[in-house]
Amino acid sequence: ATATAALDPAEAQQNAQKPAARNVTILFGSETGNGQQVAEDMLQKLEEKDMDVTISALDDFKPKNLKKVEDLLIVTATHGEGDPPDNAVAFYETLFSRKAPKLDGVRFSVLSLGDESYEFFCQTGKDFDKRLEELGGERLYSRVDCDVDFDEDASGWIEGVFGVLRESLEVPSADESTPAAQLETTSLTADQPVYSRTNPFRAEVLENLNLNDQGSNKETRHIELSLEGSNFDFEPGDSLGIFPENDPELVDALIARMYWDPDESVPINKQGEVRSLRNALLTNFEITKLTKPLLEKAAQLFENEWLSALLKPEQEEERKAYLDGRDLLDFVTDFELGDVSPGEFVQILRKMPARLYSIASSYQANPDEVHLTIGTVAYHAHGRDRKGVCSGQCALRVEPGEQLPVYIHRNPNFKFPADAEAPVIMVGPGTGVAPYRSFLEEREEAEVNGKTWLFYGDQHFASDFLYQVDWQQWLKEGILTKMDVAFSRDTAEKVYVQHRMQEHSTELYQWITEGAYVYVCGDEKRMAKDVENALLTIFENEGQMSADEAGDYLKKMRQEKRYQRDVY
Ligand code: 2AM
Repeated sequence: ATATAALDPAEAQQNAQKPAARNVTILFGSETGNGQQVAEDMLQKLEEKDMDVTISALDDFKPKNLKKVEDLLIVTATHGEGDPPDNAVAFYETLFSRKAPKLDGVRFSVLSLGDESYEFFCQTGKDFDKRLEELGGERLYSRVDCDVDFDEDASGWIEGVFGVLRESLEVPSADESTPAAQLETTSLTADQPVYSRTNPFRAEVLENLNLNDQGSNKETRHIELSLEGSNFDFEPGDSLGIFPENDPELVDALIARMYWDPDESVPINKQGEVRSLRNALLTNFEITKLTKPLLEKAAQLFENEWLSALLKPEQEEERKAYLDGRDLLDFVTDFELGDVSPGEFVQILRKMPARLYSIASSYQANPDEVHLTIGTVAYHAHGRDRKGVCSGQCALRVEPGEQLPVYIHRNPNFKFPADAEAPVIMVGPGTGVAPYRSFLEEREEAEVNGKTWLFYGDQHFASDFLYQVDWQQWLKEGILTKMDVAFSRDTAEKVYVQHRMQEHSTELYQWITEGAYVYVCGDEKRMAKDVENALLTIFENEGQMSADEAGDYLKKMRQEKRYQRDVY
């Protein structure tokens, strides 16, 4: 204070100003919202330090504006076979075209989210990272590739990037948050626990029913959970994350096969927290999937010729064939692990990722409950019957009265129109119908009724018509304007939702020209692809468009958020 007082007023004024800050632009590409969440965490961290930050989805940002950017942070997921997420496609294409701007003077860093069990792990992040450098950018912090348990690695990237940005901005370091700000955070957490992915709420199971009737090839659980006391709210399109428990039989078989002591303490995270081996294998680690990185880490724990051979680049096909459909019990049975200790062993495992399910109920209609529609995954492979971790647990081991650790996962990429008059077209065969039950329940509650049209499909009318009573009630009330169904195995020739869409192409196109929003939820590999092709064909035929024009039309709908997907 004394030093400032000695300066003339104009100079004092200048000194009081913040150092000339570089602007920071955070762009995210996100399918399920995880990328957006990490981007927002980064934003918050920078804004707390009064940095000049803008944030947007990759596709909402014009690549030519990259010229004005000084520090660029990209957080992106990868989807399918190494493709950019829906809200990053246009940006990605421009960046890799001849129209891409020069990026001299731009500093950048990339965080990629992915799944190590996929061949094209974090591909979109890797592509951006390479391309930004090619275009003349300077890497301010190395790219970090995160697996499904992304928390620790993503926080590491945020801290690392923040460290570099702070250095160049000369913002004062370490715990300088104002007392007022500190007070605010503590008072918020003191009287009311805040539940989140890192602090899940234990929700009591109220109902657990099989929605399929006798004669079905499928089992779909309808689960109702109590959210009382959670403080959670959600919108149609959001998901619920569940932290599942591995099958105790599988855990016990694994421990017995290794002659380990189930009560031995093992570390469950980098902070050195410990639990009994059995509990850790039940809840903290993934034991049902083998990945190449897991084999690589295992090869550092023990010597095995076959394992070393499998890891050679020229053995890619053999390795994939081995990993496919096998779990850790197969692994410890097939390879002699020798005297690897349980403590060493769990450190090569992936953290148990939460499973996300589209919410099937409306918060406005049932604020203290959340409903889910979970298809049971069951198959036979390598001599054993196997089940999906979470869906298997829900089918076999979740009784009313028990609790499940859950959190709300916002899905900004699957949101119904704010405009109640906008027509809504919903495509959701099988469990893909869940978010539409949430949406129509909400519409019923709000007493608005713009036009809505549901395309539903499953194998058999008699056994697989999920929530049939609900749809029929909403049709009667006019909340649902139209419904077309495709039961694929009731007729000699298969009919699917996209066939029904094509049969009604004139009316469907009419709705779209009136501004309809189109939603697709469910199977990604086959259904969502075929439905997209059906839409393109409808545009070509009904709108007299060329293939390119139809593609552009869909792209425009996507940018206007009038074509949204939640596919898995
Ligand atoms: P299928 O099992 O008889 O082939 C929900 O699972 C419904 O989606 C089922 O009727 C299933 O039919 C159907 N389905 C399978 N492949 C599809 C595809 N490519 N497009 C649309 N629906 C599909």
